[in-house]
Amino acid sequence: MAQLILAADPGFAHLALEEFRRDSIGGQPLAELASGVWLADCDEGFWGLAETWIDSPPIFVRHICPVDIAFPLIATPRDLARLSRAAVAEYTDLLDPEVSFSVQSRIFVDLPYKPFDINRAIAAALVESAQTPLDVRQPFQILSVVCAAADERLPAQAKAGDAPQALLGLSLASHNISDWAGGVRRFRREKDQISRAEFKLLEAFEAFHIEPPSGGVALDLGAAPGGWTRVLRQKGQYVTAVDPAKLHPMLAADRGVRHKRMSAEAYLREGPDTYDLLVNDMRMDAVPSARLTNAFADYLYPHAEALLTLKLGQSARHLDPACDVLRERFKILHMRQLFHNRNEVTIHLKAN
Ligand SMILES: C[S@@+](CC[C@H](N)C(=O)[O-])C[C@H]1O[C@@H](n2cnc3c(N)ncnc32)[C@H](O)[C@@H]1O
Repeated sequence: MAQLILAADPGFAHLALEEFRRDSIGGQPLAELASGVWLADCDEGFWGLAETWIDSPPIFVRHICPVDIAFPLIATPRDLARLSRAAVAEYTDLLDPEVSFSVQSRIFVDLPYKPFDINRAIAAALVESAQTPLDVRQPFQILSVVCAAADERLPAQAKAGDAPQALLGLSLASHNISDWAGGVRRFRREKDQISRAEFKLLEAFEAFHIEPPSGGVALDLGAAPGGWTRVLRQKGQYVTAVDPAKLHPMLAADRGVRHKRMSAEAYLREGPDTYDLLVNDMRMDAVPSARLTNAFADYLYPHAEALLTLKLGQSARHLDPACDVLRERFKILHMRQLFHNRNEVTIHLKAN
C-alpha cells in the first residue's frame, strides 16, 4: 500500500521530489495523480516523514497527506453515501472526539460531484458517528480524500478494475505542512484590493504566524503598486513604501503611508529610519536582493523581523547562494514556496 500524497507547484515538482527522496527513507514517487500531485511510498511511512518535516520543513513540498485506504468509485452521486459509510467504518474509532476535524477533498478525475459535496457528506456522517466537532477553518485532525483516475500503480487497482478510486487518509493538520487541501490557500478578493501580490503577504503572515506589532513602523521595498503596503496598513503599520514606480492613488491619500519614490539603493544612501518590520518584494535577482536586504539590517530594531520573496527564475540554483548571503545578517526562520508564489520562494527572517 502506498502511503502518502505529496503536492507542489507543478513548475517546481522536480525539486519537491528531490526533497522527498533526500529526506525520506527509501522514498519513491509512484504515480502523478495530477500536475504536481504525486502518490508516493517511503519506508518510514507518512507519520515518520511528517515528523522529519516538522523538525526541518521542505521548501517546495507544499502539502502531504497519508493514504490509509483505497476505495473504488462508481462515478455516480451514490458515491457520496458509499464514501461516507466507508469513512464511518474506518475512522469512527480513530477520530479523537476531544479535538476538531475537517474533511478535505480533491478530485482529479471526471465525477458528477464536487469536492465540497464529498466534504459535506463525509463530515456530516462522522460528526454523528464519532461525535467529533467539525472546524473547517482550523481543524486539528484532517481526513484527506483524493479522487484519482484508474491507474495500475494505485493501491488496490487490480481489485477496482477500471474504476477511479478515492484515497483516504487521516492525519493531524500539523503533520500536513499546510492546513489547506493540497496546500491551496485561497483568499477572497476584496473590493479595494490593489494587486494580486497582496495574497502572497497574507499567506506568508498566516503560514509563518507573523503578527506585526500594533502601531509598528514597516519598510516596504519594491512597494508599487502598493498591495503589500495596503495589507500592512490593515495590520496597523505605518509604512515607508520605497519604489521608483507610482503607488496606487488610494495610498497617496493615506497619512500612514510615506512614499519614497526612489530605488532601495538610493534610500539607503539617503539614510533610512529604523523599522520594526522589513518586507521586500522587489523584482530583482535573488542574490542582489539578499545583499540589499542585508544592507538594511543596520536600520532594524533588535526585535525586528523581515519577510522577502526571492525570485528563482526557472531553476533554484541561486537559492542557496542567496541564503548564504542572508545568514550573514539574519537567522532564517522559515522558507517556503507558498501557494501564491510563482517562480519565487518566501523567506521569513529575524535580525541576528
Ligand atoms: C512585483 S512588484 C511589487 C508588488 C508589490 N509588493 C505589491 O503588492 O503591489 C516589484 C516592484 O519592485 C520594484 N523594484 C525593482 N527594483 C527595485 C529597486 N532597486 N528599488 C526599489 N524598488 C524596486 C519595481 O519597481 C516593482 O514595482
